[in-house]
Amino acid sequence: MTASSLLPSAGLEAQALVQWAADTFGPELTLACSAGVEDSVLVHLAAQTGQPVRVFLLDTGRLHPETHETYDRLRQCYPGLRFEAYSPEAADVEALVTEQGLFGFREGLAQRHACCEVRKLRPLRRALAGSRAWLTGLRREQSPTRSDLRAAEPDGGTPERLKVAPLLDWGHEQVWAFVQAHQIPTHPLHDAGFPSIGCAPCTRAIQPGEDLRAGRWWWEHPEHKECGLHHRPTQGRP
Ligand code: ADX
Ligand code: SF4
Repeated sequence: MTASSLLPSAGLEAQALVQWAADTFGPELTLACSAGVEDSVLVHLAAQTGQPVRVFLLDTGRLHPETHETYDRLRQCYPGLRFEAYSPEAADVEALVTEQGLFGFREGLAQRHACCEVRKLRPLRRALAGSRAWLTGLRREQSPTRSDLRAAEPDGGTPERLKVAPLLDWGHEQVWAFVQAHQIPTHPLHDAGFPSIGCAPCTRAIQPGEDLRAGRWWWEHPEHKECGLHHRPTQGRP
C-alpha cells in the first residue's frame, strides 16, 4: 500500500494530524525543520506524540548562524526527538561555484535553481530516503503558490510519499500565540523583521505591509519563489 493511499480524516486539528502521522508511519515519518517559527511549533507537536520522530535540517552551507543556534536550542529542549542535519556534497558545491561563482544565484532563475538543487534538493533526497511521510511547516497564507495545498497530499516529486502540513490553515498570529503559550524556542531573526528565513544571501527583512515572503529571493517574481522543496507537478519547473 502506498503512503498516499493512507490519508487522514479531513479537518483534523494540527496535533491530531501529527499524532495520526506518527502512529501511521512510525520511524518512516520525518519532520523538515528550517528552524523558522512554524517548524518550532511542529517540533513541539511531534514531541507530544511521545515517539522519537526524526527531524532534519537542510544545512545548505549558506544559513544564518542564528539558524544553527535555534536548531540546536530545539534539539536541547526536545531530547525525545532525533535531530539530524544534511549537508550538500562537497564536490557538488565545488563544481557549482566553479561554474557560476559564489553568488551566481543572483544572475538568473536558472542559476538560482542550480544552487538550490545542489544545496537543498539533493540533500533533501537523502534526508527523505526511507521515509513514507514528512511533516512541513507550510501555511496557505505564505504565498500564492501555497494557496491550494491540502493538509496531506502525495509529495510532488515522489507520489508514493505523503507530505503533511499540519499548520496549513494557521494564521501568523495563531503561530505566534502558540509558541508564546508553550515557551517554545524561536529564531531570533523573526524579531528583526524576517517573517520567512532561508539562506542568508537570499533572505532579507521586510518592510511593514509587505508580503510575508517578500524578503525571500526579493529580486524574483512571487510565482517563482519556490526552491523546489515544495514543487508540485501542476506548477511547472520549480
Ligand atoms: S522554502 O522552500 O521557501 O525554502 P520555507 O522557508 O517557506 O520553504 O519553509 C517551508 C517549510 O519547508 C518549512 O516549514 C520546513 O518544513 C521546510 N524547510 C524549508 N527550508 C528547510 C531547511 N533548510 N531544512 C529543513 N526543512 C526546511
Ligand atoms: Fe542557493 Fe539561495 Fe537556494 Fe540557498 S536559497 S540554495 S543560497 S539559491
